[in-house]
Amino acid sequence: MVCLHHFPSYLLLVTVILATSGGGASLCHQDQSAALLRLEASFRFPDTYLNCPWIAFQVGNLPSWKENTNCCTWEGVTCGGMSGHVTALDQSRQCISGNLSSSDIFKLTSLLSLSLAYNYFDANPWPNPGFEKLTELKYLDLSYSGLSGALPVENGQLSNLIALNLSGLDLKDLNLETLIDSLGSLQELYLGNVKISVSSTNLADGSSAHTTSSLRELRMWGWTITSGHFDTVLTNLLFRSKLANLVTLYLSDFDLKNLSLHTLINSLSSLQELYLEEVNISASPITDLAHASSTNTTSGLKEMTMWLCTITRGHLDTVLTKLPFLSKLTLDVTNISGPIPVTETFAEFSSLAVLSLYSCGLTGTFPSWIFCIKSLTSLDVSGNENLCGELPEFVEGSALQELMLSGTKFSGKIPESIGNL
Ligand SMILES: *[C@@H]1O[C@H](CO)[C@@H](O)[C@H](O)[C@H]1NC(C)=O
Ligand SMILES: *[C@@H]1O[C@H](CO)[C@@H](O)[C@H](O)[C@H]1NC(C)=O
Ligand SMILES: *[C@@H]1O[C@H](CO)[C@@H](O)[C@H](O)[C@H]1NC(C)=O
Ligand SMILES: *[C@@H]1O[C@H](CO)[C@@H](O)[C@H](O)[C@H]1NC(C)=O
Ligand SMILES: *[C@@H]1O[C@H](CO)[C@@H](O)[C@H](O)[C@H]1NC(C)=O
Ligand SMILES: *[C@@H]1O[C@H](CO)[C@@H](O)[C@H](O)[C@H]1NC(C)=O
Repeated sequence: MVCLHHFPSYLLLVTVILATSGGGASLCHQDQSAALLRLEASFRFPDTYLNCPWIAFQVGNLPSWKENTNCCTWEGVTCGGMSGHVTALDQSRQCISGNLSSSDIFKLTSLLSLSLAYNYFDANPWPNPGFEKLTELKYLDLSYSGLSGALPVENGQLSNLIALNLSGLDLKDLNLETLIDSLGSLQELYLGNVKISVSSTNLADGSSAHTTSSLRELRMWGWTITSGHFDTVLTNLLFRSKLANLVTLYLSDFDLKNLSLHTLINSLSSLQELYLEEVNISASPITDLAHASSTNTTSGLKEMTMWLCTITRGHLDTVLTKLPFLSKLTLDVTNISGPIPVTETFAEFSSLAVLSLYSCGLTGTFPSWIFCIKSLTSLDVSGNENLCGELPEFVEGSALQELMLSGTKFSGKIPESIGNL
């Protein structure tokens, strides 16, 4: 009796597993299969590789997209396990051109994920109605898709979006703050190589709520700014605590002279990784608006990478003393010039593993206590022609694995204890 009861439920479990795993098990819905075929017919595929350096598949149409076959098995198509609805469409890197206005894409309303990255879709007009029809969408990648214009996000459209990539697009006068305000679930935003006019909402304007966004990762680089000042926009976002949940911030190629590292780090209380590349920024605390309510707390920052940056004012040591949890500090080719900016309080920092100060104009004598930081695994001070120093005796059990001193004035004998490393 017991066995009879167990047997069918065991079978049932196997059936459920078969149905939920492997695309082959789902059967495509007829209307979705038809929409996909009409979509393919509206796409123009390139007939040569020229202008298509990033092509993912073979040149030409989508060979697996055949009538009377299960669309859940077609390349770039994924169906949801139970329902069999098309939940993901990846048509990236295919060099497709064509007009997305009144496209069948927008009939695939069960889509959770859509990528049209690296194609040549017609820029005009921006599909309308368009992406806002895909109300379930969580992941949208339109990077380098050829489209242009700002995504319509007002009125709660696309409010389920978690990740958005608009890199390589001409976004006209997209208001960054409106975008962030409107996409309440957004956690990842990539805006690289965009052409944009950064109109900023007036700080005194109370219409924008001081609600913190869900953004955890923000990457912005290589902007062509047609009007407005980026640092004003960023300052406003910081002042209104919009980015308080940010864990990772990557900024490249921006002039942030009017912003200080203090402000940036103080205003981003959840920040763990900060990457600044080719950025002009001040290291002296300036009493700007965002800094007005400056707290004196330390930051939980774990990684700070500055590469090719220009410190326009002040010295980094005042910033670094606020960062006791740093595990990776890279200041390569950033003009910190002068003595090593890390003060002895660093020795107490138990987590510093990587310190890279390649070619940043360091002078004076390299403080030997840095070699005693127990957690240090990699140290690079190469390319600092006027930096002097001597290697100490290394204690047994030191974590140090990489040491780069070329292009410096380090002198003296190589300690035998280097063999302990
Ligand atoms: C794209 O389609 C829309 C609507 O069908 C049309 O108005 C527009 O002119 C088309 N654009 C191009 C570049 O063909
Ligand atoms: C677009 O951004 C997402 C994160 O939101 C990222 O995972 C994806 O790789 C990016 N796409 C391209 C083509 O780089
Ligand atoms: C940084 O400032 C310098 C000098 O003012 C300027 O030439 C350079 O273009 C700026 N860098 C960026 C990324 O704006
Ligand atoms: C920085 O601030 C000064 C004075 O407020 C202003 O004149 C200048 O345009 C600002 N620079 C940038 C890049 O925003
Ligand atoms: C900030 O913190 C430092 C070190 O903890 C302390 O000496 C200083 O008095 C504090 N300053 C303010 C304004 O609270
Ligand atoms: C870095 O370079 C800028 C521009 O050349 C200069 O104004 C600034 O004082 C330098 N910063 C340091 C810390 O040397």
